[in-house]
Amino acid sequence: ALVVRHRMKSSGKWAQALSILREFEEKCGTPISKLKQVADAMTVEMHAGLASEGGSKLKMIISYVDNLPTGDEKGLFYALDLGGTNFRVLRVHLGGKEHRVVKQEFEEVSIPPHLMTGSSDALFDFIASALAKFVATESDGLHFSPDRQRELGFTFSFPVRQTSISSGTLIKWTKGFSIDDTVGQDVVGELTKAMERVGLDMRVTALVNDTIGTLAGGRYHNPDVVAAVILGTGTNAAYVERAHAIPKWHGLLPKSGDMVINMEWGNFRSSHLPLTEYDEALDAESLNPGEQIFEKIISGMYLGEIVRRVLCKMAEEAAFFGDTVPAKLKIPFILRTPHMSAMHHDTSPDLKIVATKLKDILEISNSSLRMRKVIVELCDIVASRGARLSAAGIVGILKKTGRDAVKDGEKQKSVVSLDGGLYEHYTKFRTCMEDTLVEMLGDVSNNIVIEHSNDGSGIGAALLAASHSQYTEADES
Ligand code: GLC
Repeated sequence: ALVVRHRMKSSGKWAQALSILREFEEKCGTPISKLKQVADAMTVEMHAGLASEGGSKLKMIISYVDNLPTGDEKGLFYALDLGGTNFRVLRVHLGGKEHRVVKQEFEEVSIPPHLMTGSSDALFDFIASALAKFVATESDGLHFSPDRQRELGFTFSFPVRQTSISSGTLIKWTKGFSIDDTVGQDVVGELTKAMERVGLDMRVTALVNDTIGTLAGGRYHNPDVVAAVILGTGTNAAYVERAHAIPKWHGLLPKSGDMVINMEWGNFRSSHLPLTEYDEALDAESLNPGEQIFEKIISGMYLGEIVRRVLCKMAEEAAFFGDTVPAKLKIPFILRTPHMSAMHHDTSPDLKIVATKLKDILEISNSSLRMRKVIVELCDIVASRGARLSAAGIVGILKKTGRDAVKDGEKQKSVVSLDGGLYEHYTKFRTCMEDTLVEMLGDVSNNIVIEHSNDGSGIGAALLAASHSQYTEADES
């Protein structure tokens, strides 16, 4: 009788764990009807953000990029790409229409975590000295004229209020950075001062967001590129808008008639978003509560953490991992999205990879197969919600630009450049996002192309540095 009662008790717990999972799944639901509401809300907020400064949660930042690369760009340019846990320095030799990217070199440096929450000077000094070291590896002869200053495209992937193509003030940090004394400062000024401190003579001729860099890099290879989306540590999008459709723009109408907009869609929020108690707790305990809500349910920085939070609840309230809650499971951000992705893609019949991850990361060594199956399902729920919502965001942009319907017979191709670790490495996320686009767009999806722009944001910044060079082409010969 004792044994039976024990089994009953444990199967009661199991049922309880499953009901926590089912409830979470239901709250995460993204039927097409809901996704359409999200896309519509995105379009509405885009209008509001373009109408006036502060008119929407979507900042719809004017990038001052009114011309995208043509292929004519020539010369040697540097780029610096700061936006996640790594930053990259690049040297790009552009050869014009015929020769294109003649040579491209780069180096990647990881940012010591303490610099992400330290002082502005410490962060920029670190970056400037890495850049100086990289510049020192330039081979003779590459840099044509000794009195010509080296020029840099600076990809800075945080919300910046641009004041020109080569200046802008930081609105706020995102993605785990939090350095108070940078907020409100011109980030090009901060970088320039640091370059002076390390004795590096270089001028920033373009300051761009990674979405803008990706759009520029994408357009360089394909003239049909109209938008760019980043799905990485954070998430965001940029697209080409008609300048006369930007009421808050009081500058001259650009010759091209176009203006590229950095949406900062990570900060999008709508009552239609499927938010759960776990998302609310994650947000409340984050470095930036109340902000970047879209980002917190889509992007790579947070997906693994959402999974951890649900598992924690299942452990605490339904003894999912046994009588005690595994200590490691209580550590925020211990379960990273790449771990989650590895578990989600496990195709071995006994889910060996899930077992290994549980053991290595959470020190859970006695997982049963049915436990592991539940975990894979949980990963699927979290990843699918993020992927489907990002597709809805893209549909919102297509709607705003009138590319969501086939106009009588016209076959206009719209290409969207995508980049970011989540898109690149999380296959199930990517396919789910792409399938959802087809599901939402129907026939129109034949005219929409999603293109991977491999590290386009660095090259894109170098291209924009070239087209905004202080020297004219005549100086080159
Ligand atoms: C965050 C930043 C945004 C960036 C995105 C992708 O949302 O605020 O500027 O584009 O991450 O890196």
